[in-house]
Parts: sequence; C-alpha cells; structure tokens
Amino acid sequence: MIEIKTPAEIESMRRASRVVAEVLAQLKPLVKPGVTTAELDKFAEKRVRELGAVPAFLGYRGYPATLCVSINEEIVHGIPSPKRVVREGDIVSLDMGAVCGGFYGDAAVTVAAGEISGQARRLMEVTSGSLEAALSKVRAGARLGDVSRAVQEYAEGNGMSVVREFTGHGIGRHLHEEPSIPNFGKPGTGPVLKPGMTLAIEPMLCLGRADVIVKNDGWTAVSADGSLAAHYEHTVAVTEDGCDVLSRA
Ligand code: MF3
Ligand code: CO
Repeated sequence: MIEIKTPAEIESMRRASRVVAEVLAQLKPLVKPGVTTAELDKFAEKRVRELGAVPAFLGYRGYPATLCVSINEEIVHGIPSPKRVVREGDIVSLDMGAVCGGFYGDAAVTVAAGEISGQARRLMEVTSGSLEAALSKVRAGARLGDVSRAVQEYAEGNGMSVVREFTGHGIGRHLHEEPSIPNFGKPGTGPVLKPGMTLAIEPMLCLGRADVIVKNDGWTAVSADGSLAAHYEHTVAVTEDGCDVLSRA
C-alpha cells in the first residue's frame, strides 16, 4: 500500500527535507582535496542536530554514520572514514537523511573536488538531468513507470548506464516505504500517482557498465568495471498538477 500523507504530514517532511538540503549545501564547499570523508560526516551530524533534526541513516540496519560518501567508482553507501582523503579530480556523492517530528527527508548530490575531467562533469550533468526529467513526469494521474522510464531514457539517450540493483522509494514515517522506484521501466505501467504520495527519487548512473559489486564492508557499492558513478536524489510530494520538491534548498 502506498500511503497518502496529509498536508500537515507533508509539512513535517518538508522540515526534515530542508534540513537535509541545507546541510548538503553547507557540505559542498568543504568537498576539497585533503578533506577526509569522516570530517564531512562529523560536520553533517553536528549541523543536522543543531537544526533540530536527527540523522536518519545512523544506526539504520547497522549503518555507522550520518552521511554516505561515495567517491568515483563508488556508487552509493560509502562509509565515511578518517583514512579516506578526497583528492583533486574526484567526484564525491553525498547522500543524507534526517528525521523531524517523526517524518523523514532524504536527498543526495554529487560534488566535484577541484578540477575534474570532462567525462566526469558530463556524468554529473546527465545524472542531475535524469533526476529533473523524472520530476517533470510526477503529477497526479501519471504512472510510476512514466517516472522510471524518464530517468532511463534521459540517461541512456546521453550515453550513460543506469544502476538496477538500487532504487528510489516511498518515504514518510519511515525512510523506506512503498513503492520501490526503479530508474528504468515502461511508461503506462505501475501504480497511478495520487496527491499526497511522497517519493524519494534517486538516479544512480555509471559512465561505463552499470553492474554492481558490494565491497566486503557490507555497504559500499562500486561499479564492477571501475567506471565513474554519480547519484542525485530528491524527496518530493505528488500534487494535483505536478511535483512539490520538498528537498529543494
Ligand atoms: N538514500 C539511500 C537510500 O534511500 C541511503 C540509505 S543509506 C542507509 O537507500 F544507511 F540508510 F541505508
Ligand atoms: Co533514498
């Protein structure tokens, strides 16, 4: 069952999502050669709590941090570490969730550390563009497959590949709710979207093949061929005539 949220519940989700957006925006300028991923995580946790929210990932299924920091061929769920130093030319995906008054927000961005290659820049642009393509399909009466297909069409049309092992998800009272939102699919299929549904849409794209390996830390997902990956995510509410992006800064 896909839960419909009341306007008041959506406002709680907006508060949580805005905390995420604000902290991600504050992290961006810190993503520079020499910073460790543990330093980024420490900053994120401190800011989330100062803003009156609680980190959503910390302790979730045993995940040990506030942030996921996934660098280059790492796709998602990179665990922050004091030993992992950001280098010039890296692309760094930052994924974070927060809880406010019992409701969740979840968002992700990919950030360039210093000067990056043209290919890396293009991957970031196409991944961000595929998220915007998905958001443009969200409205009451559309089908979930329309949204999934929009990501796939935009990504593959621009020469990138779509990760299939991980999906977006419903969100609200829990970090992960129904439905699961693949980044590939067929238009005109899947559940019909209704006002008050709340979704976390999160394309993960690779420059090469999209096959995934999970490292033996049990979390870090990397591209099997070592190609670069990028990840963007927004938490949104379905409205009568479109999409209310709750995690827009
Ligand atoms: N944005 C990701 C997701 O929704 C991050 C989850 S990380 C975890 O699945 F640690 F919370 F699992
Ligand atoms: Co998510």
